[in-house]
Amino acid sequence: MDAREMKIKAAEAALAYVENGMRLGIGTGSTAEEFVRLLAEKVADGLQVQGVPTSERTARLCLELGVPLKSLDELPELDLTVDGADELDLQLRLIKGGGGALLREKIVAAASQRMIVIADETKLVDTLGAFPLPIEVNAFGLTATRIAVERAADRLGLSGDLKLRRSGEAVFTTDGGHHILDASFGRIPDAEALANRLNSIPGVVEHGLFINLASFAIIAGEAGARTLKA
Ligand code: 5RP
Repeated sequence: MDAREMKIKAAEAALAYVENGMRLGIGTGSTAEEFVRLLAEKVADGLQVQGVPTSERTARLCLELGVPLKSLDELPELDLTVDGADELDLQLRLIKGGGGALLREKIVAAASQRMIVIADETKLVDTLGAFPLPIEVNAFGLTATRIAVERAADRLGLSGDLKLRRSGEAVFTTDGGHHILDASFGRIPDAEALANRLNSIPGVVEHGLFINLASFAIIAGEAGARTLKA
């Protein structure tokens, strides 16, 4: 099974949790997009759902494929969100934001009764941190924020490169108009402590550590899809 087939397997399994009439948070990234394609087929067959997209990119795909959309202000309470992840551990702590949508993804996940993470087995790790942690920052005072992040990490014994994300020649800008620092700290033994410290830095808009948000994960591998609960 190649990587795309595994993503489709995970997306198919998540689709089984979607019921008629649901208000759905719809994630961002290549795995979430497989979910959107399968969801669109069900919608074409008569399934009625209302989706809240977590990015402009996801919104475009949903509109192209005929998945009905609402804004989070129109539907502030959601039944279920289905989204991918860059990494997850056995306690269902996630690193997200590789696609740059972490802020909307976290807001949408927090507004949902349940969040299902869909991923292929390469994303499952013992300890988070091999994937650089995306930290969404305000453009104002970027250097001061970078120093504050370095100091916060240092207090936890973490260090590493903080790379300002680029898109070609330009600095990458999120849907919310912010920038992203990708932090290569390596292993993050205490994700909660790092999340708390990052939360207290004013220039940090949001970070990609998702803790206590995922209800369960569907992990696809060669042997098929399995459910992972914390
Ligand atoms: C976007 C995300 C994605 O869920 C994450 O990057 C995984 O993407 P993919 O399914 O393409 O590996 O957090 O901000």
